[in-house]
Amino acid sequence: MMKEAESYPLLFSREQIAEKTAELGAAITRDFAGEKVVLVGVLKGAAIFLADLARQIDVVCTFDFVAVSSYRSSTTSSGAVQLIKDLDHTVEDRNIILVEDILDSGLTLNFLRRHFEGHKPRSLRVAALLDKPARRKVQVEADYIGYPIENHFVVGYGMDYAEHFRNLPDIRILPADAIARIDAEKH
Ligand code: IMP
Ligand code: MG
Repeated sequence: MMKEAESYPLLFSREQIAEKTAELGAAITRDFAGEKVVLVGVLKGAAIFLADLARQIDVVCTFDFVAVSSYRSSTTSSGAVQLIKDLDHTVEDRNIILVEDILDSGLTLNFLRRHFEGHKPRSLRVAALLDKPARRKVQVEADYIGYPIENHFVVGYGMDYAEHFRNLPDIRILPADAIARIDAEKH
């Protein structure tokens, strides 16, 4: 699987990702100098980005995680997002940095923003490694964005297709024939 995936078109190399993650970490470090932050990762896609970003942030920092499920099948138009796992710790009066792998329709971020605002944090910012602005269905933006991208389906560095490819070290564009093969294996 790994060998085959190495032939998929490369979008961002591990070196590019590391460079961008360091920039984002430096910006967060500047913005929160003298304060504490809680990094809230959205499982599972953001886990690897959070792990690397956290090590580029030089302020006191804790971790928490949430998990959501979204119904994005063509038969559903509601775009409903459901919370599967909530925060372990209260975020009241905390500086939250929500860490996402990629912003697509914006439905997940919109849902989580409202959810966290209900918990009265001191501040709420969003860090997303990738952003597909052309795909937005609801108007939400991240405060720290790694790379804006075109409308490609990407995998690697935590991001998956049907749970595959999260462990690829680079970010690659998933070709249509690979999608078809994975879909066929599911049946
Ligand atoms: P949104 O609610 O449509 O913005 O969806 C955001 C989530 O969809 C991301 O956190 C990813 O888990 C997933 N997603 C969106 N685009 C991609 C992609 O190109 N590759 C892998 N996952 C994606
Ligand atoms: Mg995700």
